Amino acid sequence: MGNSVTIIDNRSGKKIDLPILEGNRGTPVIDIKDLNKELGLFTFDNGFSSTAHCKSELSFIDGEKGELFYRGYRIADIAEKKSYLDVCYLLLTGEFPNEKNSLEFDMLIRKRYFLHETLKELFRAFPENSHPMATLSSGVAALSSFYREHLDLCDNKKCGTFDYFIMAQRIISKIPTIAAYSYRHSKGLSLVYPDANRYFTENFLYMLRAYPNGDAEIKDIEVKSLDTIFTLHADHGQNASTTAVRTVCSTGAHPYAAISAGIGALWGRAHGGANEQVLNQLREISDSGNDIKKFIDRAKDPNDDFRLMGFGHRVYKNYDPRAKSLKELQDKLKNEINIDNKLLEVAYRLEEIALSDDYFIERKLYPNVDFYSGIILTALKIPISMFTPVFVIGRSVGWIAQWFEHRHDPSMRIARPRQLYIGKVDRKIEDN
Ligand code: CMC
Repeated sequence: MGNSVTIIDNRSGKKIDLPILEGNRGTPVIDIKDLNKELGLFTFDNGFSSTAHCKSELSFIDGEKGELFYRGYRIADIAEKKSYLDVCYLLLTGEFPNEKNSLEFDMLIRKRYFLHETLKELFRAFPENSHPMATLSSGVAALSSFYREHLDLCDNKKCGTFDYFIMAQRIISKIPTIAAYSYRHSKGLSLVYPDANRYFTENFLYMLRAYPNGDAEIKDIEVKSLDTIFTLHADHGQNASTTAVRTVCSTGAHPYAAISAGIGALWGRAHGGANEQVLNQLREISDSGNDIKKFIDRAKDPNDDFRLMGFGHRVYKNYDPRAKSLKELQDKLKNEINIDNKLLEVAYRLEEIALSDDYFIERKLYPNVDFYSGIILTALKIPISMFTPVFVIGRSVGWIAQWFEHRHDPSMRIARPRQLYIGKVDRKIEDN
């Protein structure tokens, strides 16, 4: 018999042995599916702090050591040696592409950069100054009406429906176009068509920066840096937005509706929206004359809901390896592109003070991926409202790969958590 945990219900004396399941790495889990049937009990786990809701082969986080792996490869190695599109291929297929497959995949992505002309009308319906995240999530949801056949996706050619790999390419290649159009509309700028002669990441910078006549100055180092940022964001276990994608997937809704839900979930400041907030906070600290202590004290004050943005993580109880890679990238870039040294100094100082402060040490609050990304994105001349869309672009492949994994797990059922009801009971409507 395998390992198990015995739960005894003190009320009835009934007991149940629940099996312990071991993955290939990480904390084992207790399989509680018989708990309700045997003991008439559910579990309560606010924010899923102790709950695994699926099996996955995609990414693995060792929060104690501060490590992240995609398909078994360490993130720092991947970020240094592989392009974002090769990482997409890895996440979707399980292996890095050989040279021929890499070129083919790149070409397949390029030919799908373009949007249906009528989709452009959607942008006009949004007020100028709309946040690009609002337009982006709507644009991706709208894609579902252009590719209705993707609702009945199947990876088995014989079933006569669409191949999931094409769906994945469509999402990966069109999201940057929708993101760039969202930004340009929010600034009242004319939309710039994608350029299929340019690699994925260069094309995104081009669509953001180009004049209507096609002029845009883009340096190789900018492309390489943004490509690394996309790679560092590509997948990250069962975070809030991925969970949203899987939840929508479990209902059988259109895959693009699931990705749109993921974009909505990512927007929040506790999740991907933090990158925008970090930069605002660094600027605020800089404008205050670098009064870092004031901000640290506020973050520590239990009566103040202020948080140091870019610090802390549900899973990492050590330095986020993505933040480590970004810090190294930033150090490399310092002499090559125009980094805001004032903000950089504030960030270094803030990190130094926070990491030696008992409050942060006891709670294991380290810089996360959002802490340094904003400074690099600013140096790449990415507008602040596009920071979270950049996160979306990088994460899009992770969402699709997770969607696909979810869809193909025969044990998956509709996501339907329970609740502990604490409302009023048995009320009667009084007759007048
Ligand atoms: N500044 C000050 N205190 C903090 C912070 C912070 N950034 N993060 C957590 N704490 C404190 C929190 O007040 C609590 O203290 P106490 O035990 O005294 O009540 C303790 O640390 C545990 O916090 P929690 O809110 O229970 O932790 P969580 O796992 O629910 O939240 C988090 C994780 C990322 C939402 C949170 O750390 C946070 O709000 N950070 C700032 C926002 C941020 O940077 N988000 C980006 C996350 S990484 C990118 C991504 O994957 O989305």
